[in-house]
Amino acid sequence: MAIIAYGILGDQEAAQADVERLEQGLRTNFLSAAVWSELVAGALAKAGRGTLVAIASVAGDRGRRSNYAYGAAKAGLSVFLEGLAHRFAGTAVTVIAIKPGFVDTPMTAHLPKGGPLWATPDKVAEDIESAIRRRRTVVYTPWFWWGVMAIIRNLPRPIFDRMKI
Ligand SMILES: NC(=O)c1ccc[n+]([C@@H]2O[C@H](COP(=O)([O-])OP(=O)(O)OC[C@H]3O[C@@H](n4cnc5c(N)ncnc54)[C@H](OP(=O)(O)O)[C@@H]3O)[C@@H](O)[C@H]2O)c1
Repeated sequence: MAIIAYGILGDQEAAQADVERLEQGLRTNFLSAAVWSELVAGALAKAGRGTLVAIASVAGDRGRRSNYAYGAAKAGLSVFLEGLAHRFAGTAVTVIAIKPGFVDTPMTAHLPKGGPLWATPDKVAEDIESAIRRRRTVVYTPWFWWGVMAIIRNLPRPIFDRMKI
C-alpha cells in the first residue's frame, strides 16, 4: 500500500502575480503526485494486488477565484486517480482518491478555524482507513462535503459569479 499525502496550499494571489509560484504549486500538487501514482500503480500491477491512496481535495471540484491554482492541480490529480481506478477495475488493485474539506493541519494554520465545516486530521484518517477497508474509489471527508460540493458544482453561473469563494 502507498499513501500519497503531501501538498502545498500556496497563495492564489502570489501565483497570479508570479508564474514561478504557480508552477511550483502545479508541480508539487499535480505533476509530482501523478508521477508517483503511476510509479506505484506499476508496482501494484506487477504484484497483482495492493492499494494506492492519494489525497486530492474538494477544491478540485470547481474552479473558484480564491484558489483555482491549487484546485486545478487537485482536479488533475483526481482525474488521474479516476483513470487509474478505471484501469484496475475488477482486479485486486484498488486506487482511492480522498477529497477532504477544511482540515485543521499546519497547511491551514493561517486560517480562522472552528465551526462545523472543520475536521480534525484524526477524522480524515478514520475515513481513509474505512475507504481502504471498503475498497472505495472516491471518498469525501467528512462525508457531508459530497453534498456541499454537489451544490457548488451545480450552482448556476450567475449565482456562482456573485459568490466570494
Ligand atoms: N489541510 C486541509 O485543509 C486540506 C484540505 C484538502 C486537502 N488537503 C491535502 O491533504 C494533504 C496533506 O496536507 P496537510 O493538511 O497535512 O498539510 P501540511 O500539514 O502542510 O503537510 C503537507 C506535507 O507535505 C509535505 N510537502 C510539501 N511540499 C513538498 C514537496 N515539494 N516535496 C515533499 N514533501 C512536500 C510537507 O513536508 P515538509 O513539512 O517537509 O515541508 C508536509 O509534510 C495534501 O495533499 C493537501 O493538499 C489538505
